[in-house]
Amino acid sequence: MNDNKGLPRHVAIIMDGNGRWAKKRMWNRTQGHERGADTVRTITRVSRKLGISVLTLYAFSTENWQRSKKEIAALMHLLKTFLKSERNELLDNNIKLISIGQTTRLPDDVQTLLNETITLTSGNDGMILNLALSYGGRDDIIHAARLCAKEVLSGRLTPDQITEDHFNQYLYTAGLPDPDLLIRTSGEMRISNFLLWQIAYSEIFITQTLWPDFSETEYLSILDNYKHRDRRFGKTTTKGVKNNAV
Ligand code: IPE
Ligand code: IPE
Ligand code: MG
Repeated sequence: MNDNKGLPRHVAIIMDGNGRWAKKRMWNRTQGHERGADTVRTITRVSRKLGISVLTLYAFSTENWQRSKKEIAALMHLLKTFLKSERNELLDNNIKLISIGQTTRLPDDVQTLLNETITLTSGNDGMILNLALSYGGRDDIIHAARLCAKEVLSGRLTPDQITEDHFNQYLYTAGLPDPDLLIRTSGEMRISNFLLWQIAYSEIFITQTLWPDFSETEYLSILDNYKHRDRRFGKTTTKGVKNNAV
């Protein structure tokens, strides 16, 4: 795929299956997450190379706080390692890092590294790498609703001014286009509280492949599959058929 035609502008990925990948090898879950971090590097690099504008990765959900202390600590440690090791790669490749979610719940040292990397890369415009950290789709909507309510209370906004476009500006994803393509690895047929509002019209692709095994080749084939989807958005137009053909 070397032409930009038909390429999604925004790809969002539910990176699932690290634990199962490790279990199959009788390894511990942390080792699965470590291999998952390698896949993050690969997919980020390929996305940048192809010309994707935004790559959103679901790295830690609001529900994931219910995992064992040990696993949470390992994931936070890995996140720190990733932020340190990828800084130069992000800078060299003109990638801007941003994050969505309740990032103030993250340990202080992770927040510091995250904020430093976000600031350092803020001038980059080659691609946006958006990490969903301590992210929940319902929390995103509630957080936005509270901001709207405060605006109304202050008299700066009337309830009728709360349109879809306006509401969008209060979401963690404000300013980003909605995902065109949502990929989930490891076969679960669910959304797991990911971008509930934003995926209203995303094309969905679920692969059985476990995240650590997810490769450039498979990513390219999913992007090719996406290219052939007929995105009707509720209308009747189909590819190659004239608008008014019945
Ligand atoms: C995804 O892999 C990574 C996170 C949710 C942080 P999992 O850890 O959920 O792996 P499985 O689903 O147990 O295989
Ligand atoms: C979704 O995976 C969250 C992330 C990938 C960060 P989970 O493994 O937490 O989802 P469930 O529990 O299978 O729905
Ligand atoms: Mg999982």
